[in-house]
Amino acid sequence: MFKGKSVKRILVGVSVLSLMVLAGCTRQEPAKTAAPEKGKAIKIGVSMDDLRLERWQHDRDLFTAKAKELGAEVVVQSANGDDQTQFSQCENLISQGVNVLVIIPHNGDSLAPIIEQAHKAGVKVLAYDRLITKSDVDYYISFDNIKVGEMQAKAISTLVPKGNYFLMGGSPTDNNAKMFRQGQMNVLQPLIDKGDIKVIGDQWAKDWLPEEALKIMENGLTANNNKIDAVVASNDSTAGGAIQALAAQGLEGKVPISGQDAELAACQRVVEGKQTMTVYKPIKDLATAAAEAAVKIAKGETVKTEGKVNNGKIDVPSILLAPIAVDAKNMVETVIKDGYNKLEEVFKNVPKDKWPKI
Ligand code: GAL
Repeated sequence: MFKGKSVKRILVGVSVLSLMVLAGCTRQEPAKTAAPEKGKAIKIGVSMDDLRLERWQHDRDLFTAKAKELGAEVVVQSANGDDQTQFSQCENLISQGVNVLVIIPHNGDSLAPIIEQAHKAGVKVLAYDRLITKSDVDYYISFDNIKVGEMQAKAISTLVPKGNYFLMGGSPTDNNAKMFRQGQMNVLQPLIDKGDIKVIGDQWAKDWLPEEALKIMENGLTANNNKIDAVVASNDSTAGGAIQALAAQGLEGKVPISGQDAELAACQRVVEGKQTMTVYKPIKDLATAAAEAAVKIAKGETVKTEGKVNNGKIDVPSILLAPIAVDAKNMVETVIKDGYNKLEEVFKNVPKDKWPKI
């Protein structure tokens, strides 16, 4: 499955091997689903954590377009970062009679009861991008999130092999945030142990919000008399907030800082020298894989997975796609070439004679 050109094959990094049981794990699922009545379109329920951050609008649009192309009807609900809202929206989708439920959890630790309810109604659940922990969730489709963290820390520690590091983590309720940190520490811990790197701040930004990251970074700068040499930020929204705080101290572009998501504003900062790197995760591939899987699940067909990720309760059949580290040098051949962001928008604030020739 997923042989389409746009779907890059999955690269399960060595870092994630400990989580994955790779041998013979293609799963043949029996057809116990809330299959649609004959002649009726498949109905997919999508419960999203939040649409405030740019990346999730891409996910929603690409997933919906692909599912519709495959003949399914899609009902999307967004919980605006609220656990209770997400819980009732999921209950509502199940009672609306969706044939399969796709969830991007706000708090992956709190949705096990929803999976139970869904299963009672014969509805299988696919965890999209973020794992639903300690539950019987049926599938997990995401990127290699440990690799993402490794890419971030590698890019920054190559530029700043020694010095004071500030770690800007993501939402404490998001399992991905923990995986990014795990990947970052795979790279940083040996340098910390050697005494080259000193972690002078380690904070987690609620809901990944830039305003949270701004406050955290302002306090971090004050507490350390601005003596911060590098920031490992876990995504672009938190990097954006941190850069605002750095700019207020005249440190924008002087303190290397990572990101993730290839958001337009972040890509602009990267080519303008204000942010060191971002991690581009081809959302189209994720959305396509998930929409194809959701339709198959709804029809009771086999979904071919590539490994399993343990969620604290079970080994969840999973598909993990490969992330791509992006800096000013490979911006054109990655994000722009894929059409994720347009050249004229990314380089908007750069003098035209400095634009890359393509
Ligand atoms: C993570 C996701 C990142 C980022 C973040 C904030 O779960 O993997 O790509 O978008 O959430 O929404």
